[in-house]
Amino acid sequence: MSNQTDTLLSAKGLTKHFGGLVAVSNFDIEIGRGQIVGLIGPNGAGKSTTFNLLSGFYKPTSGELYFEGRNCTGASMMTISRLGLVRTFQHGSLCRSLSVADNILIGTMHALAGLHRRERARSVAEIAGILGLTPYLGATAGTLPHGIQRLVSIAIAFAAKPKLLCLDEPLTGLNQTEVTSTLEVFDLLRREHGCTILLVEHNMKAVMSACDKIVVLHHGQHLATGTPAEIQRNEAVIEAYLGKRHEH
Ligand SMILES: Nc1ncnc2c1ncn2[C@@H]1O[C@H](COP(=O)(O)OP(=O)(O)O)[C@@H](O)[C@H]1O
Ligand SMILES: [Mg+2]
Repeated sequence: MSNQTDTLLSAKGLTKHFGGLVAVSNFDIEIGRGQIVGLIGPNGAGKSTTFNLLSGFYKPTSGELYFEGRNCTGASMMTISRLGLVRTFQHGSLCRSLSVADNILIGTMHALAGLHRRERARSVAEIAGILGLTPYLGATAGTLPHGIQRLVSIAIAFAAKPKLLCLDEPLTGLNQTEVTSTLEVFDLLRREHGCTILLVEHNMKAVMSACDKIVVLHHGQHLATGTPAEIQRNEAVIEAYLGKRHEH
C-alpha cells in the first residue's frame, strides 16, 4: 500500500505569526489513518496553536494543510470539520448548564443533519454507551466530576463522526483511575469506531503508553518525531522537555 493511501493528515511548513511573535514555525506533521499520535512540548511550545491551525480555527501565515490528500489550506473550521477533523478545546468544550444528553445532541447536529428526532435520540444513547456516559445522561454537565466532564467534551466531538479526533490536554486534572478509563476509551474509538487521534498531553506516562508516534514541538519548531521509546531516549527532547518536567 502506498504511503499516500495511509496518510490522513499532513501539514507542511505550517507557520503562525501573532504580530512579532512566531508561535509556530515551519512545522511538518503527518498522521496515518488509525494512529494515535501525541503532540508534546513545554508550555508555550505552540501545541494549541498547531491545533488551531490544523482545525481551521486560525489561518496559517504560511504553509499547507492536506486532509485525505485534499488541500485544505485556509479552509474554514466548518469545512474542515465536515471533512472529518474535529477538535476539543484545552479549557473545555461543553455547555455546563445543559444536560449530558443535550450536550451530545449538539454534537450530533453537526454530522447528522436531517435526522429524525427519534433517530437522533438513539444516536445520543449509542454515543453515551460507547463513552460510558449512560448513567449521567440526565445530569447537568457542570455539576459532574471533572473526569466525567472531560468525557462529555470528547463525546460531543465524537458525535460529529470524526475521522481525526484532536484532543487538547484531555487528561488534565484527572485521577489515575479516570486516566486509565479515558485511555481505554481512546483505544476503543480507534479500534472499533474508525477514529484516528491526535493527542496534546502533559501526562507523559499516558502519552508513552497510548501513542504509536510522538511529535515534539519546542519554541514553535519541530524538535523530534519517533516512537515513544525513541522519544524517551532522544537527547534533544530530554534536554528541552522530558528532563525538565519536574520544574512545571
Ligand atoms: N491568540 C494569540 N495571540 C497572541 N499570541 C498567542 C495566541 N495564542 C498563542 N499565542 C502565543 O503563542 C505561543 C504558543 O502558545 P500555545 O500554542 O498556546 O502553546 P502551548 O499550547 O504549547 O502551551 C505562546 O507564546 C503564546 O503566548
Ligand atoms: Mg496549549
